[in-house]
Amino acid sequence: MSSEEQTSLQEQQFMQKINAEEKIEPKDWMPEKYRKNLIRQISQHAHSEVIGMQPEGNFLTRAPSLRRKAILLSKIQDEAGHGLYLYSAAETLGISRDEMIEALQSGRAKYASIFNYPALTWGDMGAIGWLVDGAAIVNQVSLQRTSYGPYARGMIRICKEESFHQRQGYDIMLTLANGTSEQKAMAQDSLNRFYWPALMMFGPHDSESAHSAKSMEWKIKRETNDDLRQKFIDQTASQIEFLGLEHPDKELKWNEERGHYDSGEIDWEEFHNVIAGNGHCNRQRLEHHIKAHEEGAWVREALVAYNAKKQAKQAEVA
Ligand SMILES: [Fe+2]
Ligand SMILES: [Fe+2]
Repeated sequence: MSSEEQTSLQEQQFMQKINAEEKIEPKDWMPEKYRKNLIRQISQHAHSEVIGMQPEGNFLTRAPSLRRKAILLSKIQDEAGHGLYLYSAAETLGISRDEMIEALQSGRAKYASIFNYPALTWGDMGAIGWLVDGAAIVNQVSLQRTSYGPYARGMIRICKEESFHQRQGYDIMLTLANGTSEQKAMAQDSLNRFYWPALMMFGPHDSESAHSAKSMEWKIKRETNDDLRQKFIDQTASQIEFLGLEHPDKELKWNEERGHYDSGEIDWEEFHNVIAGNGHCNRQRLEHHIKAHEEGAWVREALVAYNAKKQAKQAEVA
C-alpha cells in the first residue's frame, strides 16, 4: 500500500468514527487540519478563561459585602481551573503550554473579545456573570458533544460550574433591579453595555464564518454560530422582562411563525475593530498577563526544583 492509500484509509476510518459519534482520542490518527483546528479552538478557549479573570478580579476589593466578595472570588478561581483543564486538553494534541502562552502574549492567538470591554461598575459583575457566562454556557453545552474526547469531557465539568456563574450574575442583577432607583439605573446601564458584545461572542454570521463548515463536518462544532446566538437571544428576552429592565434591542420581536425572536443587527464594524486589537482594554489585558506571568516565574521554578528533589530522594530510597 502506498503512503497515499494508507492516509486515505486512515481518513476513512477517522470519518467513520466521527459519523458513529465515537470520540477521537489523543493517540488516534487524525488529519493534520483537524489537529490544528482543535489546537486553535481549545487554546483560544483556554486564553479566554484566563484573560476573563481580569475584569472581575478588579472588583474583588470593591465588592459591596463580604458575602459577595467570597462568591466572586470562588467564581474567578473556577475560571482559572477552566483554563487549566483546557490547556491540558490542548497539550494532548502535541503543543506545549509554553507555546500557547507565547502565542497569547505575542498577540498571535486570540481570546474572546468580550474581555476587551472594561468593567466599570458593580452592575457589570452582574451583567458579566449573567450574560457573558450565559452566552459561554450556550456554546459550551453544545461542545459537550464535540468529537475530540478530552475537550468534550472538559466541557462537561466546566458546564456544571458555569451554571453557578450565570446564577450568581443574575442574582446580582435581580438585587440591583429591585433596589433603589440608582441601583436599577446601574443594572440597566450594565445590561445596555454588555448585551450586544455578548451576542458577538457567538462569532460572525454562518455565511461569513471562516472555520464553520469544516468544523461542523468534523463535529468539532455541533451547532452553528447563528443557531447558538438565537438560543441565547430567546432565553435572555424573558430574563430581561423578569428583571423589569428595558430590552437594549429595540427591534426585538416575537416571530410566531419561526417560534423565535427576530432581532436587530449587530454592529459588525465594532466586532471586527475589537478583534483587530482596538478594543478599550486589549493592550491592558495582555500587559497584565505578561506581568503576572513574569512575577509568577519563581513559583514555577520552585515547583520544578521541589519535584526534582523529591524524585532524587525517592531514587535514593529505592
Ligand atoms: Fe469558565
Ligand atoms: Fe464562568
